[in-house]
Amino acid sequence: MSKLQQAQKYVEENRNKVNPEFRLKYHMMPEIGWMNDPNGFIYYKGEYHLFYQYYPYDSKWGTPYWGHAKSKDLIIWEHMPIALAPDMYYDVDGCFSGSAIEVDGKLYLMYTGHTNPDPDNPKNIRQVQNMAVSKDGVNFEKIKQNPVISERDLPYIALPQDFRDPMIFKHNDSYYAVIASRNIDGSGQLLLYKSNNLLNWNYVGVIIRSDNKLGKMWECPSLFKLNDMDVLILSVQHLDKNGDKYHNLFSSIYMLGKMDYESWKFICEVVDEIDYGFDFYAPQTLVDDRGRRIMIAWMQVWGRTIPTDCHGHNWAGAMTLPRELRVIDGKLYQIPVDEITKYRKNKISYKDIIVNDKIQLDGIEGQNVELEVEIDAQNANNFGIKVLKGEKEETVMHYDRREGKFIFDRSKSGEQIKNTEGKEDNEQIRKTTVSLKNNILSLRIFIDRCSVEVFIQNGERVMTSTVYPKSTSKSIEFFTDNKIIIKNLNKWDIE
Ligand code: FRU
Repeated sequence: MSKLQQAQKYVEENRNKVNPEFRLKYHMMPEIGWMNDPNGFIYYKGEYHLFYQYYPYDSKWGTPYWGHAKSKDLIIWEHMPIALAPDMYYDVDGCFSGSAIEVDGKLYLMYTGHTNPDPDNPKNIRQVQNMAVSKDGVNFEKIKQNPVISERDLPYIALPQDFRDPMIFKHNDSYYAVIASRNIDGSGQLLLYKSNNLLNWNYVGVIIRSDNKLGKMWECPSLFKLNDMDVLILSVQHLDKNGDKYHNLFSSIYMLGKMDYESWKFICEVVDEIDYGFDFYAPQTLVDDRGRRIMIAWMQVWGRTIPTDCHGHNWAGAMTLPRELRVIDGKLYQIPVDEITKYRKNKISYKDIIVNDKIQLDGIEGQNVELEVEIDAQNANNFGIKVLKGEKEETVMHYDRREGKFIFDRSKSGEQIKNTEGKEDNEQIRKTTVSLKNNILSLRIFIDRCSVEVFIQNGERVMTSTVYPKSTSKSIEFFTDNKIIIKNLNKWDIE
């Protein structure tokens, strides 16, 4: 039996051995085992395909396979057979991240082969780029010419140990791949390669580099056009904190600017963090038949404990809700894909509720819900909402007018999450600057058992976090230091 068949058999025989305790209801997650980055996210022959970094045998990261799922609406995912196994000399220590493209009706995956022959000596690590192809979107074959880009194709300024996560795209009549790389100065850069046939690739140049000013190694690049701007998405290791930004060990950022397709340089005008919560990394995007640019990300981050990664839960990791991206007034907005509204049930609404201190409203509770709320701040300085509230637990989101910030606090959310490396403290608070519009704060909050995603002011800012409360902690409470008016409140169960 091949390595791929063995892994698939293991999944089939063990998929019902996961502990249901923290399983999500409407987010994509592995049947069993470990999941990290989304890979090869593509709209292909009328369906959305999502591949992901996958290790079926444990709830910890291990030599990655590519898991595979597909969906008609981005919400209900059908698990497909594992797409790639680390079974060749050039990828034996991992089929690392990559992307997908459709050419002549076939689905091509471009991914990084990772080899680490001597773990005590990381200098011997090599990362090379490979292709696999499928005619049916189910079975993938690695091509004979692999690796298609290897150490000898690197410019001297790039280290062969860190060269990964190719993002493939077509421009004019050629194919290009943007690949994350580490400069000999130790910091990140993006290399560009060009091909006319997907097999022979030529080095074009460095499109942008960190020069040690923007974190260490860069990962998972993505380059695309949106609303007349060029957008570059990057996942950055060890980016220093800067005000409220970059408080996680690794951070996902976007740059807006101009890609000069003559000189192949990206000219950056704006840089910001994509998501100001605790758990968001390695996003990928696609364009679908409606022309929407949709992003999905790993709803976790490196360097922390994960409560399902113990007590025999047998799984770890999930994806965020897919979000449509738009550039508005020089900012990247994120809006949950509208398909999620098909799954709304049991609507409960309130209008013009005056709160002077705190209030719980009949029917407003739950662990798998969407809340849509518009709050008129009146003269309050500090007001907000507690969710997943139990006797001793609560997840608190509030607006502090003096600071002009929206604050997410998971210090009492339930099972504790600790840093295992990196940025000093175990702070359980994240903040982001938000302005009220006509004195109104509007929120869309998605709670799915162990995740909270809050879209603030119509997606101008987003905070995504995992939390691990007891199954009985499901109350919701509004609170304030001074009168506020809940202008509109809608709550749905999402099933
Ligand atoms: C990002 C990343 C990628 C790599 C993959 C390995 O989270 O480190 O750079 O390809 O994960 O699983």
